[in-house]
Amino acid sequence: MMVDMNNRRALKDAPIIDAAYGRSPSRRPVWFMRQAGRSLPEYRQVRKDIAMLDSCFRPDLLAEITMQPVRRHDVDAAILFSDIVVPLKAAGVDLDIVPGRGPVVENPLRCSNDIEALPDVAEEQLAPIAEGIGLILGELNESQALIGFAGAPFTLASYLVEGGPSRNHEQTKALMHSNPELWHKLMQKITPMVITFLKAQISAGVDAVQLFDSWAGFLTQRDYRRFVLPYSTEIFAAVADAGIPRIHFGVGTGELLGAMAEAGPEVMGVDWRVPLDAAASRIRASLAEATPGADPESTALALQGNLDPAILFSGEKALEAEIKRVCSEADRAIARGNARGHIFNLGHGVLPQTDPGMITRAVEIIHSN
Ligand code: CP3
Repeated sequence: MMVDMNNRRALKDAPIIDAAYGRSPSRRPVWFMRQAGRSLPEYRQVRKDIAMLDSCFRPDLLAEITMQPVRRHDVDAAILFSDIVVPLKAAGVDLDIVPGRGPVVENPLRCSNDIEALPDVAEEQLAPIAEGIGLILGELNESQALIGFAGAPFTLASYLVEGGPSRNHEQTKALMHSNPELWHKLMQKITPMVITFLKAQISAGVDAVQLFDSWAGFLTQRDYRRFVLPYSTEIFAAVADAGIPRIHFGVGTGELLGAMAEAGPEVMGVDWRVPLDAAASRIRASLAEATPGADPESTALALQGNLDPAILFSGEKALEAEIKRVCSEADRAIARGNARGHIFNLGHGVLPQTDPGMITRAVEIIHSN
């Protein structure tokens, strides 16, 4: 499948894109994971009579919900309203998103036959998403980027194998370790679906993409490298020629930042546990070791993160202090040459009970730092 570059609009001075490529942004860019969602009354209103996964296949709703936080908070990017399980749903996997719980899969994958029977997704099955992207691009201005995304194979596999959200991911790890060959077969089934999902969004015109490996932090680095990294690397390579920033994110990945950076993104997302300057040193050391003789500049990536979402409940004084700390840690990493830029974000998603007024205030503070 060729990525159609003709649909891509020309952004002008988009701070997120400039930061991702190590140019000087006109202001410090910010967006928030889960900026669209239950923290917003206008979201709860439009979603009140429609199920989460149904809304993801309605281009009008998808565009409206994606735009809500952009209108309200003046963030520098919209993130496509969708979910990591959308390509699975589009392919016909029997699953639902249960409110307050997350994705639940009717028939968890346990044996070779189950994995064999996992369907592939065709780009046509994602047509409503592409249509929604077209509507969103018509509403954004030329400095606001639209970020597309997909779940990484490990995180998707965890839902498929466990059958739902998991505290310990024990069935997923059991599959890896008891039957590595079958694990790799599962990864080889999921990886093309992720690539199709991302390429459908890229063809429709998104300006950047993020790969969410939310639960990768449950793995040892050794297992991550052996069972996961090859597939995430394949995904980043498959979308490299789109020429748009690629972001890689997971939670609790302090010990994996270097390995995740080796998958090939321009930007590494960092959760709140590791200061951004420490994260940048880890990333750079890993990339330098993995690519001996590489241009030292190429081993410095852009950073995305990493305010603790709970700080949005801590009052304006604490909010300002923590934002300043995050910004100065990012700036230190850039000054030392260990990072090329900074995109402000939370260390994970906006919590549903967050006061949206505090999110708007956070954006103002970030833009003035
Ligand atoms: O604003 C945005 O960030 C864009 C939308 C977005 C959603 N899901 C919407 C959503 C994104 C980027 C995702 C990705 C996603 N989905 C991830 C990776 C990001 C992360 O949080 O680590 C994961 C692990 C999922 C799986 C998933 N879907 C979970 C854990 C949940 C939450 C369950 C709950 O109710 O708390 C969902 C449902 C979901 N996806 C909601 C939203 C807004 C809540 C649905 C609702 O409003 O009822």
